[in-house]
Amino acid sequence: MHARDFEFALAASAAVPLPQPDRKADDCDPAFRKDVLDGLSQSRKVIPARWFYDLEGSRLFEQITGLADYYPTRVETALLRQCASLVAARLGTAAMIVEFGSGSSIKTRMLLDAMPQATYVPVEICGAFLAESCATLARDYPEVAIVPVEANFMDPVQLPPSRDGGPVLGFFPGSTIGNLLPSAAVDLLRTMRVSLGAGSNLLIGMDAVKSTDRLLRAYDDDEGITARFNLNLLHRINRELQGTIPVGAFRHRAVWNAGWTRIEMHLEAMDAVSFEVAGEPFRLDEGETIHTENCHKYTPQQMRLLLQAGGWSETRHWTDGNGDYALILAEAVPDECGP
Ligand code: TRP
Repeated sequence: MHARDFEFALAASAAVPLPQPDRKADDCDPAFRKDVLDGLSQSRKVIPARWFYDLEGSRLFEQITGLADYYPTRVETALLRQCASLVAARLGTAAMIVEFGSGSSIKTRMLLDAMPQATYVPVEICGAFLAESCATLARDYPEVAIVPVEANFMDPVQLPPSRDGGPVLGFFPGSTIGNLLPSAAVDLLRTMRVSLGAGSNLLIGMDAVKSTDRLLRAYDDDEGITARFNLNLLHRINRELQGTIPVGAFRHRAVWNAGWTRIEMHLEAMDAVSFEVAGEPFRLDEGETIHTENCHKYTPQQMRLLLQAGGWSETRHWTDGNGDYALILAEAVPDECGP
């Protein structure tokens, strides 16, 4: 499909949802309700990170990516600018680029600048976000054929047909892989390998292990934006699930877990607190936390191993002067090499 056809395709798909500002209290998402009630009922309390991203959460996250202390976005963007022409030299300027969780497709532009005849397949769960970013991209890259797919990138993706066996490049920036437990990360890499097919390539961003001090600052910035991002989850519960959580009694905590080489985000109760969510009572002791996010960090060897376990073999490894962040090009391991 070509860029100009894209508007018709969107008009035809009535399923594109509008952005949802604050829902009414009686209009709650049953999956959100279930995750929160289940998570708060456990002895070690946990709420899945996907619920961070309501409208306010998405705005705060955009702000995080621009923070001085949050190096990943800055370093990755610079690396992409440098390596895009090398990727193009390898795959040609007309490859099919499949981006998993494309969001605003900002980083994609670095690739499209070097691959102006590409076919771009953004896979994004939020239809409204997808429509908006595709429309903007289509204006700026008229030669790029855009084929949006509204789907959860954790599931297999059906690629557009008739590619004449041309090169296929998966794109997964942002060290989003690090937000999964290693077992889930391997599963996702394998799913991507199946979706992208034999002979495909993957360009993936991964954040490196570094000084604990710098890691903690990246996830607990001086301006308190990451704290607001984390605490917004409690406001959201109060808004959407008739919660009575005293948000002021909680604080944001970023913790380095050396065993798992990951930053964990928690919401810590500063006093013993009792509250209700959807009519059910909960209690936290002073110092008890709700675990909200994991951000795994890797050594270069762990990066290679993780990819290998997922069916990918590293072909290029780009990193900045400090070795803070890596952008890796990998090739799908042929089936006959499997165990
Ligand atoms: N995947 C990125 C990271 O781990 C972005 C991210 C996910 C993030 N959740 C976050 C950044 C919470 C800050 C806070 O860094």
